[in-house]
Amino acid sequence: MCGIVGYIGSKSAVDILLNGLTSLEYRGYDSAGIAVCIDNQVELYKAEGKLQNLKDIVSAQKTHIEKSSIGIGHIRWATHGAPTTANAHPHSCNCGKVAVVHNGIIENYKELREKLEKQGCTFRSQTDTETVAHLVASKYAVTKDLTEAVRLATKEIEGAYALCIIHQDVKNTIVATRRNAPLLVGIGDNEFYLASDVPAIIEHTKKAMYLDDNEIVTLTPNSLLYIDSDNNKLTPKIEILPWEPVALSKMGYKHFMLKEIHEQPDVVRNVLSGKLRAIDENVRLDEVTLNQDKLKVLNRIQIVACGTSLHAAMIGKYIIEDLCGIPVDVEPASEFIYRRTITDKNTLVIGVSQSGETADTITAVRQAKALGSHILIVTNRPDSTMAREADSLVPVNAGIEVSVAATKSYMAQVISFYLLAIYLAERASKRVETNDLNKLKHELIVLPQKIEEILAHKEGIQACAKKFANAKDFIFIARGINFATALEGALKLKEISYINATGYTAGELKHGPIAMLDESMPVLSILMNGKVYEKILSNSEEAKARNARMIALTNSTDSKLDDLFESIIRIPDIDEMISPALAIVPLQLLAYYIAEFLGKDVDQPRNLAKSVTVE
Ligand code: M6R
Repeated sequence: MCGIVGYIGSKSAVDILLNGLTSLEYRGYDSAGIAVCIDNQVELYKAEGKLQNLKDIVSAQKTHIEKSSIGIGHIRWATHGAPTTANAHPHSCNCGKVAVVHNGIIENYKELREKLEKQGCTFRSQTDTETVAHLVASKYAVTKDLTEAVRLATKEIEGAYALCIIHQDVKNTIVATRRNAPLLVGIGDNEFYLASDVPAIIEHTKKAMYLDDNEIVTLTPNSLLYIDSDNNKLTPKIEILPWEPVALSKMGYKHFMLKEIHEQPDVVRNVLSGKLRAIDENVRLDEVTLNQDKLKVLNRIQIVACGTSLHAAMIGKYIIEDLCGIPVDVEPASEFIYRRTITDKNTLVIGVSQSGETADTITAVRQAKALGSHILIVTNRPDSTMAREADSLVPVNAGIEVSVAATKSYMAQVISFYLLAIYLAERASKRVETNDLNKLKHELIVLPQKIEEILAHKEGIQACAKKFANAKDFIFIARGINFATALEGALKLKEISYINATGYTAGELKHGPIAMLDESMPVLSILMNGKVYEKILSNSEEAKARNARMIALTNSTDSKLDDLFESIIRIPDIDEMISPALAIVPLQLLAYYIAEFLGKDVDQPRNLAKSVTVE
C-alpha cells in the first residue's frame, strides 16, 4: 500500500527520494510523486502508473531538480479517486506553497472539504488527502508556525494518517505526524530521513526513531523537535534498525518471489534457532509472557488475521486443538471487528500478520485488548504497530519479504505455530505424550532438508506449470490440516497469475463445486499419507469420473496414483501434522512458474499491496 519517503539535509534529495520509493515499490501502488523546494518555491512532480514514469519526468529536468536538499515523496495505492496524475501525491493548496504526502484514510474528508470549499479552497483532485493540504495552509495563514498549523489540523482530522508536510515559507523544514499508520525518522549526520517503512532508508542509516500515534516531529538539517498533540516536548527513543541492505537484492534470482521461496530452508532453521534447542528440552518463547496463572484460566483462543496469515492461523488452530485440547476459533480480522465478539480475560487472542500493520488486524486485537484479553502477536516485524502494542510476541524471523505474494513469511508463521502449540502443550496441557511431542520436534528439525530436496528438483513442477498455464480456472482440494494448504495454494495462484483458483475441502466437492468439473478443469488433490489419505483419493476418483484434469501433490509412492492423475508432484515423506509446511512449497513454485510462463508481473501483481493499512 502507499509509501512515504522524506529527506532533509545537505545532499541532493531527488535520488534519495526516488531510490527510497523504489525500495517501497514492492508494497503495491498505482501512481507516484515527489515535492522539492528550489529557489524558495515548492515544486511537484507526479505521474500515474509505474515509478519509472515519474523517473522519466524527473530525469528530463534533473539538473534543476537536484538542486533541492529537501523533499518528500510518495507512491499511492488508490482509495479515494482513480489512480491518475491529478490524484497522485503530493497534494497542495490554493497558493501552491504547501506539499503533503499521506498514507491512510481521512474519514471525515467530505465534511472538511465542504467547509474548506466554503472558505474559498479550490480542489484539484478527488482525494481525501488534498483536504489536509488546504487545512494546514489555512492554519498556517493564522499561526505562521508550521508545526502548530499541523498540530491544529490534526485535531480536526478523523481517520488514519502518516503525513509529511513542507511549506515554502518555512525554509528547510519538514513536519511529520502519524495516527494508525507507520512512520519512522532515520537519523544521519546533520540530516534526517522519513519513511513509512525501513527499506526506504536503510541504505543511508540504521539509526531511527518510530513515531507513535498523535506525535509530531519537526525536522531541519540540524534540529529535531518532538512533541505530542498537546504540545508537550518528548524525548526521542533512538533504535538501531535490524535490517541489512542486502535483503533488498534479488541475489541472482529472476524475481524476489523465487528468491524468497528458496530462502525457506534457512527461514525454518532461523525460526527454530534458540526456540527449539534440543528435542528433550522445552520449547522457549522468550517474549511470551503468559505465566502459569494466566495459562490456568485460559479456556479459549481466538485467532485473527487476513489473507495468507489467515491460512497460517487455520493451521495453528488445528495443531493447538490437537496438541492442547483448547478450543480455537479463527476469523478474518475484517469480520471479527464488525460483530459482537465474546472474547474476555480468559481468552488468548492471537493476531497474525507478516507486516504487523494490517489495519483490520490492528483494529481486531485492539478491540480484544479493550475487553481484557491477553494479546499475542505472531509477526515478521517486531518493530510494527501490532508488535509494539502486544502483551506477548512471537517474532517469526523470516527477514524482509519483498514480493507482494507472501511465501517465506507464511512458512515462518506456520513453523511458529508448531512451536507455540508445543510450548502450550508443554505448559498448559499434558494431553500429548512427551514422546509424541519429541517426534514432532524431530520432524521440524529435519524439515529444512526436505524443503531443499523439493527445491533441488523443480523440473517436474515447471513441466506441470507449463502444461496447465492456460487453464481459466483451478480447483485445489484437501482435507484436515491441509485444507489451509489448498486455500493458500489457490491464493498464491490467483494473486500472481490472475487465474480463478479456489480451495475446497475435498468432501465438499460433491455438495456443489462438482458441477463445474469438465475436461477443461484442473483439480489438484493434496494427498498426504495419514488419516484422510484414502478419503481424498476417493474424492479424486469422483472428480476424475467427471473428466476433470487431475493433478496430485503427494508424499505417497503408491503406483496406482499413476492411472488416476495426469500429473503427479511427489514430495519427501513427512508426518501428516507437519506436512502443510512441506506441501506448500511446490504450490508456491507452481503458482510462480505459471505466472512467469504467462508473463505476469510476479513481484508486484496488479491491484495488490504488500501491507494493507486501510480497512
Ligand atoms: O501483513 P499481513 O500478513 O497482515 O497481510 C495480510 C494479507 O494482506 C496478506 O497475507 C496478503 O494476502 C498477501 N498478498 C498474501 O500473499
